[in-house]
Amino acid sequence: MGRLIALTALTSMVAMPALAQGVVQNTALKEGGATATSPDGRLRVTVTVDGDGRPHYAVARNGKVLIEPSRLGFLLTDAPKLERRFAIESQSTSSADTTWEQPWGEWKSIRDRHTEFRVRLKETTALARVMDVVFRIFDEGVGFRYELPDQPNLKHANIADELTEFGLAGNGTAWWIPAGEWNRYEYLYNRTPISEVGQAHTPITVKLEDGTHVAFHEAALVDYSGMWLRRVTGTRFKAQLSPGAGPAKVVKQGPFTTPWRTMVIADDAAGLYTGSRMTLNLNEPNKLGDVSWVKPGKFVGVWWNMIKGKWSWARGPQHGATTDNVKRYIDFAGANGIPGVLVEGWNVGWDGDWFGNGTDMNFSGPTEDFDAKGLAAYARSKGTALVGHHETGGSASHYDKQLDTAFAWSAAHGQKVVKTGYVADAGQIGRVDPDGSEHREWHDGQWMSNHHLRVVLAAAKYKISVDPHEPIKDTGLRRTYPNWLAREGARGQEYMAWAGKNPPEHEANLVFTRMLSGPMDFTPGILSLKGEKDSDIPSTIAKQLAQYVVIYSPVQMAADEPEVYAKLMDAFQFIKDVPVDWADTRILNGEVGDYVTIARKDRNSADWYLGSVGDEQARNLEVTLDFLDPGKTYTAQIYRDAPDTRFDSDTRHKYVIETKKVKRGDRLMLALAPGGGQAIRFAAK
Ligand code: NOJ
Ligand code: CA
Repeated sequence: MGRLIALTALTSMVAMPALAQGVVQNTALKEGGATATSPDGRLRVTVTVDGDGRPHYAVARNGKVLIEPSRLGFLLTDAPKLERRFAIESQSTSSADTTWEQPWGEWKSIRDRHTEFRVRLKETTALARVMDVVFRIFDEGVGFRYELPDQPNLKHANIADELTEFGLAGNGTAWWIPAGEWNRYEYLYNRTPISEVGQAHTPITVKLEDGTHVAFHEAALVDYSGMWLRRVTGTRFKAQLSPGAGPAKVVKQGPFTTPWRTMVIADDAAGLYTGSRMTLNLNEPNKLGDVSWVKPGKFVGVWWNMIKGKWSWARGPQHGATTDNVKRYIDFAGANGIPGVLVEGWNVGWDGDWFGNGTDMNFSGPTEDFDAKGLAAYARSKGTALVGHHETGGSASHYDKQLDTAFAWSAAHGQKVVKTGYVADAGQIGRVDPDGSEHREWHDGQWMSNHHLRVVLAAAKYKISVDPHEPIKDTGLRRTYPNWLAREGARGQEYMAWAGKNPPEHEANLVFTRMLSGPMDFTPGILSLKGEKDSDIPSTIAKQLAQYVVIYSPVQMAADEPEVYAKLMDAFQFIKDVPVDWADTRILNGEVGDYVTIARKDRNSADWYLGSVGDEQARNLEVTLDFLDPGKTYTAQIYRDAPDTRFDSDTRHKYVIETKKVKRGDRLMLALAPGGGQAIRFAAK
C-alpha cells in the first residue's frame, strides 16, 4: 500500500474532504487547543495550553475522556525548564497506511495505519524555545514523542527529568512491577488498584472500571534513558527517567527526538496483545539490509544443570562446559533437528566472584577442558551449531573493549547466536571512560541504551544475532536491528529452580505485560518439573509445552536435560515440532493474570499451533477453530493435563496425548488443570 500524506495548516481552519485513503483530519482548534483523531475516529488527542502557558495533551475514546489533560515538558539541569509560557504556534496532520514485512516474528506482515498529528509549541519568553510534540494516533492506541529542532537557545539539553504525565481518568486494576529496585525487571507482577501503584516499569497494564484496557510503554528507546512511571496523585502518573552517571539523566547535543511514549488502548486483554504491534510501527525500518543470515531457531544447552546447582560455570569437578558434556547435548540436538546448543561457562573468567563484576571474563578464551575447535566441527557434522555466551557480570566497558574480538571468535567457531548477560544489581553496571574514570550505570539508562546498540552492531558485522539477559527493556528495536532476536527482562523460568518460585499465574501475567514489549527468552520446557535440590516446580507438563506458543521468542530453548527428554519422548515431540517463526498470531481469549489462549500459524507450513495457560484455578475454555484455513482437514495433536492433574501435587507429571480430526469452525473445549495448560499442533493434510 502506498503512503498518502496530506497536510493542513492550523491557520486554515478548514475541514478537508475525505480522500479514499489517508483521510485528512479536521484540525480545527477546540477551545483554544489543537486536536486530531485516529483513522477510525474513535480516539481523539487534544493539545491545550493553560493560563500559565503549560502545554497539556488529553486522549478521549468514543467521546469519553481516557487521559485527562496531562503535562508535557522537561526539567533541565543547566537551563530553565521547558514547561511554562508556551503557546501553540502551529499544528498539522497527515495520514499513513502502509504494510511492511517482518523478517521473522509473530506476524508476517504488519499494517501501519495512523494519523500523524504534529503540534509546535513556542515559548512566549525571550528564550523563544521551540518544542514539537508529534503524535501518531492509531486505531489501537497513541504514541507521541518530543522533537526538539535545531535552535539558538537549545544547542544541547541536559535533561534532569521528563515532565510527561499520564493522567488516567478513572480507577481500575493495574498489573505492574516496581522500577528502580535492585533486581531490575525480575519481579513478580503486582495486581493492585491503579491508585496504589508506586513506581513501575513499563509495560504497565491497567483495566479501567468500564473494561477499557491500556498498556503504557515506549518505542524506539535509542540514546536515551528508559522511562519508568511514577504515580503522583490518584490515578495520575509521571515519566521518571532512569538515572545515569553523567551530568544529567539524559545528555543530548543539537536537535534531538525522544523515544515514543505509547498507550495501547483496547476493549479487552486480547486487543492489547495485537495492538502492541504499534510499538514496531513506531520504530524505524530495518537498517541492516539483507538479514537472511538471521535465523530463528530452537536450542538446547549446558544451562539448567548450572541453574539448579548440579554443575558449575566455574572450573573444577562440577564444571558443566566440558567437551564430553557438550558432545552429549550436540548429539541430542543433532538427533532432533535442533539448530543450537548453548554452552555457558565455556570461557575463562568464571572462577572468582563474577556476580556484579566480570572484569576477568575473556570472551575468546575457552577453558582447557572445552575443546572449542573440535566441538565447533563436531556440531557442524551433526547439523547444529554452538550458541555463544558472553556473561559480563555487568562490567559493560570491559565487554566493550572485547566486542570485536569476541564476535570474530564466535563467527570463527560457527556461532550464529550469542546470549549475553549483565548479572549485576540495578545501578551497578561498570562503566570505565577513556580517561580511566569509573562510573556506575543503570541497566536501563542512556549509557546502557547505547551500549546495547554497540553490541548489536558489532555482532551484525559478523552476521551474529544476540539475546541479552538482564537487558534494557524491549522497545521494538528488532524492527530496525533484526539480529536483536530476543532478551530476558522479566522473571524467566530460571526462578522455577529456586526458592520463591513463579506462581501459576505468572505466564498469564507476562503475556499481557512484558510480552507486549517483544520476544522473551523465557527458557520453557522443563519437563522434569524439578528444580534445585529436587524441589517441585508448580506447573504441569502440558503447561510447559504450551509455553512455546504462549511466550513468543524466535530463539526458544528446550531447557531441560536431554536425559529428561529421552524419557518423555512422546511429550518432547511437541517441542520438536513447534516452530519459532510465525505467519500469523491470534489471541483467542484471555484475562490479564488469569488465562490466555493463543493460536499461531507456522511460517513455513500450513500447520497451526495453539497454546493455552491458566492460573491456579481449573478452567474449561471453549474455543472456535475459526482461524484454521478453509477447506482443509487437520489432525489436532492434543497435549493436555490429565483429569486429576494439579500443579501442587505429584499429579503435575500426568498428561494425555490424543488426536482428533478437525476443520475450520469446529469447537474445542480446553480443560486446563489448576496451574495447567494445553498445547495443540494442528497438522494440515
Ligand atoms: C542470568 C541469566 O538469566 C541466566 O540464563 C544465565 O545462566 C546466568 N545469568 C549466567 O550468565
Ligand atoms: Ca536472569
